[in-house]
Amino acid sequence: MFTTNFIDNKTATKLAVKYDTPLYVYSKEKLIESAQTMLSIPVPFGLTVRFAMKANPNPDVLKIFHSQGVMIDASSGYEAENAIRAGYKPEDILLTSQQIPRNLRLLVERGVQYNATSLHQLKWYGELFGGTEFNNVSVRINPGVGSGFSNKTNVGGPTSSFGIWHEYIPKANEIADDYDLKIVRLHTHIGAGTDPEVWQEVAKISLSLVNHFKDVVILNLGGGFKIARIDSEKQANMQEIGKMLADEISNFSNESGRKLHLELEPGTFLAANAGVLLARVEDIVDTGPDGYTFIKLNTGMNDILRPTLYGAQHPIALITEEKNTGEYVVVGHNCESGDLLTTDPGDPESIRTITLPIPKIQDIVVIGGVGAYCASMAAHGYNSYPSAKEIVI
Ligand SMILES: Cc1ncc(COP(=O)(O)O)c(C=O)c1O
Repeated sequence: MFTTNFIDNKTATKLAVKYDTPLYVYSKEKLIESAQTMLSIPVPFGLTVRFAMKANPNPDVLKIFHSQGVMIDASSGYEAENAIRAGYKPEDILLTSQQIPRNLRLLVERGVQYNATSLHQLKWYGELFGGTEFNNVSVRINPGVGSGFSNKTNVGGPTSSFGIWHEYIPKANEIADDYDLKIVRLHTHIGAGTDPEVWQEVAKISLSLVNHFKDVVILNLGGGFKIARIDSEKQANMQEIGKMLADEISNFSNESGRKLHLELEPGTFLAANAGVLLARVEDIVDTGPDGYTFIKLNTGMNDILRPTLYGAQHPIALITEEKNTGEYVVVGHNCESGDLLTTDPGDPESIRTITLPIPKIQDIVVIGGVGAYCASMAAHGYNSYPSAKEIVI
């Protein structure tokens, strides 16, 4: 059921006792492994991999990626500052934010690179830096197509507010001319858990959009690489995608004479399967012979929100000697019926049972695939529960 379980029962039990639960455990080895897979994509004119740190801003995780030569995609000024605190140089950071940071001037003057995600942002940047030594800028374009594992993670196409709509590229160029800005990077990111075929299609569209920008030397294709957390999910084939990228960038160079440096900025791919959440069975309740049996955990949507938000699937295992199994709904400890860890895929409203060994109160539970968008994106503070601790092993 787990596609990646890096932690054996003995270690999990030891850690749960030592640090108490709920506890996020991240694997240094798995983080390095995924970073190396990305970094080894053989493109002709250079590759920068940026970690979309919104997926997991844990300073120890950032330090590990830093040690591998993975740079940063920051989604707010605060993230940029946290990356710097974790040891990144400002120039290692590309800032792509929905809100202009109040200290944008300071960040850019220190070296942070800026990616304008709207015409307003581009003008704002022009007001601050047009005609100065900081006049190199990047633009995020909505290429007209999007795809995510859920509608909530689709950030491309006409229903998405992210990026400059592709038909407004001439306006972006006008703004750049008016303010004496140089657009050196074209950026697209169309969603998380993107269909791999759509991802490849959009990579080609993005490449063709470069033709509209005379100074672009870097193509950033965002993240969105699909990973499998449970057996039935399909993972993006990075070798196939890498080959396609290498071929397309070479062809583009042959046709246009332009040698583009490639940037990719995955969050999920780099971190999701490098994390497990250890919790304990807090209670077991049922709703009679025709109802359900619920395993209530000492964690929930205040630590892990993805099932509640998206109907996302996370593998769940119980550490026990028990051989007999039953059908259980796994729920969190918050006063909210939506605090549910077992839903049908993509349907957070639904309730699903999974087969588990017959549990006892206080048994340890291992929840997989939680290295990305879990600790960073939970309903922290709900019911005033403290957030789960995080360690790297
Ligand atoms: C601009 C940008 N780049 C990269 C990512 C990473 O996406 P993923 O975690 O799906 O790889 C995101 C996530 O939403 C993003 O907004």
